[in-house]
Amino acid sequence: MMLLQLTDIHKRYESPGAVAATEVLKGVTLRVKDGESVAIVGPSGSGKSTLLNIIGSLDKPTSGRVLLNGQDLSQQDEKSLAAIRSRQIGFVFQLHHLLPQCTVLENVLVPTLVAGRDGAAERADRLLERVGLSGRLSYRPGQLSGGERQRVAVVRALINAPKLLLADEPTGSLDQAASDNLAELLVELNHEEGTTLLVVTHSTDLAGRMDRMLELTDGSLVEKDNLK
Ligand SMILES: Nc1ncnc2c1ncn2[C@@H]1O[C@H](COP(=O)(O)OP(=O)(O)OP(=O)(O)O)[C@@H](O)[C@H]1O
Ligand SMILES: [Mg+2]
Repeated sequence: MMLLQLTDIHKRYESPGAVAATEVLKGVTLRVKDGESVAIVGPSGSGKSTLLNIIGSLDKPTSGRVLLNGQDLSQQDEKSLAAIRSRQIGFVFQLHHLLPQCTVLENVLVPTLVAGRDGAAERADRLLERVGLSGRLSYRPGQLSGGERQRVAVVRALINAPKLLLADEPTGSLDQAASDNLAELLVELNHEEGTTLLVVTHSTDLAGRMDRMLELTDGSLVEKDNLK
């Protein structure tokens, strides 16, 4: 079954003061099967974050259609979009957006306040242990290293066991060991919970662990050979 279908997505930004608008996405078409793992690579500024935001319904395309689980996102009102985001999608943002006044454990549990899942605290403990943060449960983001914050953001995105995980450079500020560990966690969740992965990354290691690799260049997606 297709979990995600993008058809001819265009995105134009009307930049303030700019003479011409920039067209970042120029006809992106993508089909992702339920349970698949996909890496998206491409140069800085090519529109990878823009594309993830559109898929996650945080931004709207200028034209084109996004179907998630057969539902057309452009046909949903804000309330249903919020429900879809909270129940079906996990986000790891490039800038991780942790709440500075909350502890690690509280940050991780925020999404469960909306979706209300049983066993959330146990899952939080298990996932935080899995990424090596058991000793940091009551730290605040300001007391964590960049890589530790990034791992908290990943756990928060996974706490509601989303159908689809959208991750923007999840290993961006991690060293080799932490990055390997996180890549393994993502692959495990993909296998064990059937989480569909859409991961933007500059890491050839992480990209190589996904089922497919796509490159965003000149506004469209091109399938790359993945030597997995
Ligand atoms: N809100 C916005 N208004 C105007 N232009 C924008 C906006 N957001 C992004 N852009 C432009 O769109 C282009 C693509 O940005 P995007 O953040 O999607 O790139 P990216 O591929 O994620 O890059 P990176 O690898 O550096 O994160 C950039 O040239 C950027 O300046
Ligand atoms: Mg980006």
